[in-house]
Amino acid sequence: MSVTKHRDKDIGFVEIDNPPVNAIGQAVRQGLLDAVRWAEQERLTRVILTGHGRAFAAGADAREFDGAPIEPHLPDVLNAIETSDVPWVAAINGVALGGGAEIAMACRMRIIAPGAQIGLPEVTLGVIPGAGGTVRLPRLVGLSDALEIITTGKPLVAADALRTGLVHAVEDDPVDAALAIPGETLACIVPTRELPAPKTDISLIAAAREKVAAKSRGQVAALRAIDVIEHGLDKPFGQALSMERAVFLELRSGEQARALRHVFFAERAAKAPDWLRSDPAEIARVAVVGGGTMGAGIAYALSNAGLTVTLVETDAEGAARATDNVARIIETSLGRGLIDRAGADDRRRRIGVTDDYSAAGGARLAIEAAFESMDVKRAVFARLSEALPSDAILATNTSYLDIDEIAASLPDPTRVLGLHFFAPAHIMKLLEIVRGAKTSDAALATGFALAKRLRKVPVLAGVCDGFIGNRILSRYREAADTLLIDGSTPSAVDAAMVEFGYAMGPYEAQDLSGLEIAHANRRRQDATRDPQRRYVPIADRLVALGRLGKKTGAGWYRYSDTGTRIEDPIVTDIVLAEARSAGVSRTVFSAEDIRDRLVLAMINEACDILHEGIAQSAADIDLVTVFGYGFPRWRGGLLHHADTLGAAEIVRRLGALSLEDPVAWKISPVLLECANDNLELAKWTRAPR
Ligand code: 3HC
Repeated sequence: MSVTKHRDKDIGFVEIDNPPVNAIGQAVRQGLLDAVRWAEQERLTRVILTGHGRAFAAGADAREFDGAPIEPHLPDVLNAIETSDVPWVAAINGVALGGGAEIAMACRMRIIAPGAQIGLPEVTLGVIPGAGGTVRLPRLVGLSDALEIITTGKPLVAADALRTGLVHAVEDDPVDAALAIPGETLACIVPTRELPAPKTDISLIAAAREKVAAKSRGQVAALRAIDVIEHGLDKPFGQALSMERAVFLELRSGEQARALRHVFFAERAAKAPDWLRSDPAEIARVAVVGGGTMGAGIAYALSNAGLTVTLVETDAEGAARATDNVARIIETSLGRGLIDRAGADDRRRRIGVTDDYSAAGGARLAIEAAFESMDVKRAVFARLSEALPSDAILATNTSYLDIDEIAASLPDPTRVLGLHFFAPAHIMKLLEIVRGAKTSDAALATGFALAKRLRKVPVLAGVCDGFIGNRILSRYREAADTLLIDGSTPSAVDAAMVEFGYAMGPYEAQDLSGLEIAHANRRRQDATRDPQRRYVPIADRLVALGRLGKKTGAGWYRYSDTGTRIEDPIVTDIVLAEARSAGVSRTVFSAEDIRDRLVLAMINEACDILHEGIAQSAADIDLVTVFGYGFPRWRGGLLHHADTLGAAEIVRRLGALSLEDPVAWKISPVLLECANDNLELAKWTRAPR
């Protein structure tokens, strides 16, 4: 039963009951429509609508979006509620999102619980509100707030919902409060559809459009929502609704919405891997080794999740630096309003900094975030295995190093795994969980449980140089450097990738993170690099000149005192000199050429990663690229995007590139197989099919 109903005297109680979050599927819509007719037939004086469990309603059931719309349609259900003789009151017990908020707006009154939220997050799924949200919300809260709520998709907490006028009251028990509303009060409240629409305000709309355009980087839904709100303002209610519905349905079946739904469901599936059978260790205290930017960020993220942290440094000086790093993160979070004073005190209490390993003795989990050197890591692990209980899980945050080599020196390598965080560790959502040759399922289960506690997106990776994400990144940078020496410029490459949907291109990103880590990696890889493979030493030349990126005032670009990026003729000279010495005759690359080569290089590498079993699925690679590396979410991640191109087309384009350089552009067997079998990468598995 997706909707339950009963009456007590002349009051009807209707409850949406579709666990876990009361998504509004066909059965819920039908149940609500039946409840409208029931309340009218029973001549009830009001209906109080609430949700069973933790949600009021999380919105339309997005799983239905892959098929044709199924009757009854939500707008028709809401029209029935809104125009019924029996007034409906929404008692919003938990989240009311998307269609859930739209149901509430069609009710005569809305009362919300203090911990509940209400909002229209449709644009985050690549659609616009499709059941009156763009038409009813401006009538309730005015144009400015409606534009903000719909274009950002951010839900409002109860107090903000009250302040904007979206709800009538905040009450601990919204059902009781709905019961207590005097009949005369209810009778005086006009249905939302009868409220006047706000007047068109050209400058407000233009400002919203400008703000959204600056952020959307190719994603269309929020801009379409502004068009629909604007055009609906001076139309009759019904006409505005029809217009909204047409755009909703168009977007719902489009590529961007499909990609965003894919990321939404893949993210949720990643949190509960069905292959993991072991129970995680109970963790209350964690040892973090290394209090640099990464270690301090990890310690802070752990404290945010209510864990106690012992942050271990090598000496008193290191401990003092670590203390400063943690204090800085706490202050920044406080300044941004992410935590309050009490929260800041709590984080300070939870993180103890020491240079004594024995102080970490009570920890059942350790995360090493020390200097990226095999000798340093092995020494740290030896000390951890002495100081911690014999069954403690030992994790390394290494970005590239061989976990099996780290584990080999320990008596029990089964409790070693990689937990690869991304900077800033307390903000970035991706967590690569790296399985070594001997890592136990219990250690992996602990990693996944930790990710859940930290609200991160966990992805299982195997051992290789760079795991999933950094290995793809290395290939991306290699392909970009080849473009540079062959004829392009850092700014042309960056511009092309921004146009593709990245927040910044590869060169601006390197200047921001610093050039020295990639440089050290290239030196480490010197011994194993295929001598047939083309090597472009431009980045090495920059590092040799002390150009390590923005922090040194110069890298791929030069930076003014105010941090403005300036193209630098010195870089051009280096590029031209390297091209000359390599005997390259430079050519011109269009933005499309650049995009094509960089994206194809990443896709091909990702397919090799799949083929080698380093990643378990194409969806996992999508999550890594979206949540760790800024791949445009609305493209669904790297391999979802590849599937929109099609394996056969990718193989055709790679084939042309491999004529130029058969080593760098050697086509992955996974792509060849998918092209041959007409199979999507999303469906590729190594098991016999
Ligand atoms: N449709 C289908 N399934 C949904 C769903 C939805 N709208 N929202 C959540 N779910 C599913 C999840 O996939 C997950 O399923 P699983 O257990 O099989 O993995 C389960 O519900 C629980 O979800 P979460 O793990 O996300 O639970 P949380 O407690 O962390 O978060 C939530 C709950 C805040 C409701 C979050 O799920 C959420 O933000 N959901 C999406 C809300 C949304 O975007 N609504 C708008 C839909 S579009 C719409 O309404 C169009 C309308 O205008 C016509």
